[in-house]
Amino acid sequence: MPTHALAHRLFPSAEAASEALAAEIADLIRSRAAENRSAVFGLATGSTPLRLYAELIHLHRAQGLSFTNVVTYNLDEYLGLPRGHPESYWQFMHFNLFDHIDMRPENIHLPDGSTAEEDLASYCEAYEQSIREAGGIDLQILGIGHNGHIGFNEPGSQSDLRTHVAELSEMTIRNAAQSFGGAEHVPGRALTMGVRTILDARRIVLLAFGESKAEIVRRALTEEISPDLPATYVGAHPDASFYLDQAAAP
Ligand code: PGA
Repeated sequence: MPTHALAHRLFPSAEAASEALAAEIADLIRSRAAENRSAVFGLATGSTPLRLYAELIHLHRAQGLSFTNVVTYNLDEYLGLPRGHPESYWQFMHFNLFDHIDMRPENIHLPDGSTAEEDLASYCEAYEQSIREAGGIDLQILGIGHNGHIGFNEPGSQSDLRTHVAELSEMTIRNAAQSFGGAEHVPGRALTMGVRTILDARRIVLLAFGESKAEIVRRALTEEISPDLPATYVGAHPDASFYLDQAAAP
């Protein structure tokens, strides 16, 4: 595997990084709207993008930024959780973003965690097909797990996978245990875009904030591309950047 020289931008704070990315998103939405075209975003859950979503809501309210030409695809969803489950990413995204902006409901896409076992393979293919029909993802937003995962592409994930069923790592289950009221309640599997899906986006911005991310960010920026640390795959993309606050900087 080749080494890489992944770009990163250092911001004074997580707020500043989130505002910069929100401004970039707003520019794309407006320039596409001027051409009567849609803008397609790949979205992430977790605590990291919360400030970004708050800033997008602010731009909608304060500047009238409209999301009617926006199409979104979320990275992942827990398998076995119906959309109405309080820990589903469907709920997370509606509570933290979609309920507060003027997205068209039909333009919102998250993998459906209640997909029946026998339909999973065709469901994953249909998710990919939908992304292709939307014209592909213009900008994919990522977080990074403490183990280097992107989406639910855990250490060991190969780079050629598209949307698929993934097993959650022990660390990921441990980290989710509190919000689920115990590790035994955390679903063991998820539907996730694969590394190949992520790398197909035209641009990728990975957000990482806070001291607890500094070590994995340092490794992701300096180590060779390897399945052991899936965030290193981002280094294989020609237009990808890590947006970091001071605390997460290597
Ligand atoms: P976090 O999760 O934003 O809650 O730190 C990131 C991730 O696991 O991808």
